[in-house]
Amino acid sequence: MDFKNILNIIYKDCSRIENHGKIANYIPELAKVNPDKFGMFLLTNENEHYEIGDSQEKFSIQSLSKVISLTIATELIGQDLWKRVEVEPSGTPFNSLTELERDKGIPRNPFINAGAIVVADVLLSVLDNPIDDFLTFIRKLADDDQIFYNEKVAKSEKDFGYRNTALVNYMKALDNIENEVDDILNFYYHQCAIDMTCEQLAKTFSIFANSGKKISTNEQVISAKSVKRINAIIQTCGFYDEPGEFAFRGGLPGKRGVGGGIVAVHPKAYVVVIWSPKLNTKGNSNLGIHALEDLTNLSGLSVF
Ligand code: DON
Repeated sequence: MDFKNILNIIYKDCSRIENHGKIANYIPELAKVNPDKFGMFLLTNENEHYEIGDSQEKFSIQSLSKVISLTIATELIGQDLWKRVEVEPSGTPFNSLTELERDKGIPRNPFINAGAIVVADVLLSVLDNPIDDFLTFIRKLADDDQIFYNEKVAKSEKDFGYRNTALVNYMKALDNIENEVDDILNFYYHQCAIDMTCEQLAKTFSIFANSGKKISTNEQVISAKSVKRINAIIQTCGFYDEPGEFAFRGGLPGKRGVGGGIVAVHPKAYVVVIWSPKLNTKGNSNLGIHALEDLTNLSGLSVF
């Protein structure tokens, strides 16, 4: 497959589009990013890579981190996790409070904020040094020590985290939270406030394309069965209230973050990361979805 040529075509196509999206500003620190950035990095299971644009520039991974926290939690506590969080698409925005009351404090899935906060609570209970251990795990997946927390972003999230505070307190009242709410939020804000490049993310997420093995070393990090399950959750819940549109256009399981990153996985073939900070009205990267649609159309490599 001539990915080099395909990425060049996508780059030209995306630079022609008038992008009416808006960068996320509910976390003030995120609003400082240059809205016109665009990067893309594709890594195949044969360890070949193709990149274009700002693929080596770091950005805030935000909710992309929720896939990694889920991965660690399922490895450490297994089936018990599913007593505290479901695996159903929510159909509501990522920070919605409404269905949590109806669902008696059990979040619909581990990727909406309520679910990710439960997963963060699990990690706080089982890891010795959650903040250090989380970063160590990501660095190991990416084969890269140059990955760090962005303390300014973590603080900015904390200063304006009214909805997350409401979610965690409500779940505490309904007995689905074990640790102190401030400790959980501090960890959660840190996991979201990691800065990474498209390349670092592609390497980190390569286990989901390669049956649980790192593409660089072939080391089995998680089981193929776990990958099947996590990819299913990525497919159905990774885009909150827009998974249908994303599957329809993108054609791959994908996860998004409000920093403008999208990671999409073609199991057994490749992982691709796209970064473009301007978001559509549902909070998804406008050009990110467009670029992925181009990629799966031009290559014919989609899961559908
Ligand atoms: O909790 C928040 O609102 C952010 N740390 C994460 C938001 C996010 O990326 C949601 N999905 N794209």
